[in-house]
Amino acid sequence: MQIGIAGLGRMGMNMALRLMRGGHTVCCYNRTISKAHELARQGARAADTPAQLIDMLTPPRVLWLMLPSGEATREHIERFAGLLSPGDILVDGSNSFFKDDFAHRDLLAPMNIHYLDAGVSGGIWGLENGYCTMIGGERSDFEHIEPLLKTLAPENGYLYCGPCGAGHFTKMIHNGIEYAMMQAYGEGFALLESSPYRDHLRFDEIAALWNRGSVIRSWLLELLEAALAGNATLDGLEPFVDDSGEGRWTVLQAVESGTPAPVIAQALFERYASRGHADFSRKILAALRNQFGGHAVKKTETPNT
Ligand SMILES: NC(=O)c1ccc[n+]([C@@H]2O[C@H](COP(=O)([O-])OP(=O)(O)OC[C@H]3O[C@@H](n4cnc5c(N)ncnc54)[C@H](OP(=O)(O)O)[C@@H]3O)[C@@H](O)[C@H]2O)c1
Repeated sequence: MQIGIAGLGRMGMNMALRLMRGGHTVCCYNRTISKAHELARQGARAADTPAQLIDMLTPPRVLWLMLPSGEATREHIERFAGLLSPGDILVDGSNSFFKDDFAHRDLLAPMNIHYLDAGVSGGIWGLENGYCTMIGGERSDFEHIEPLLKTLAPENGYLYCGPCGAGHFTKMIHNGIEYAMMQAYGEGFALLESSPYRDHLRFDEIAALWNRGSVIRSWLLELLEAALAGNATLDGLEPFVDDSGEGRWTVLQAVESGTPAPVIAQALFERYASRGHADFSRKILAALRNQFGGHAVKKTETPNT
């Protein structure tokens, strides 16, 4: 099957390669044009502009965007809306907020351009392992692109989740769970690290052990095993954890729907704390203990607040 891909970052590039290996024809465009030409050396057709990409594709076209969510994705949907034809399908494979999908669908609907939202999981390992893919939109559009999904995903690794937004919604919850699982592993290993046995325990060996038959084995723990190999105390790594939106949206969804999700919320807040955003509240605690109980406080060397 033929597909156009716009966005050849860590995800888009490897997805294109996997599709090509599966016998599909890939036409591609990327802001940094050299990446599209790099892919062309492996058998894709490279376009230098969005218009060129659309010209390369045979209607009804399938165009897959693999860009950062938010501005970049919205701008590209607007730009491609002026280039695509009625009956074409645009797939947003980014980690877009599911409510943005309604605006994207409504923008394309007057031109009879169909819209699918695709939540994709698999990261940089997806090229070899396949991409678990969650699709929202019209079922008939999903069925049209199914040959592509079969190639992208591992066996039985894709699902039609429901109407517009359902794919990104499912992916959002998936990522919320990921936050909580990561947090639990982090806390468990921190307890090992602060234990009386710390000088005896090998964290890399324990991660490896727990991946062999234990109840908490998982792919995340396999990744931790790999991260700890050769540097079991993670020397040189700053304890700074970024986030890219899905955890926040999951927590907002918990609030909106009145569904308790304390573990995911705590995992999100721990990431904020890792960036120093809990420092002021901790100063308040120290100051209050000092005020009411005369408890000692630690002063910074050059006080600034
Ligand atoms: N990485 C993961 O593990 C993962 C997993 C699942 C889903 N996702 C989602 O997949 C999407 C792509 O992620 P990624 O990891 O591939 O990102 P990435 O490696 O940072 O690549 C981003 C891609 O988007 C292009 N781009 C960025 N800003 C742009 C702009 N303003 N205008 C035009 N093009 C722009 C980049 O072009 P240049 O080459 O010119 O910079 C590049 O091709 C994101 O929505 C991400 O959340 C990522």
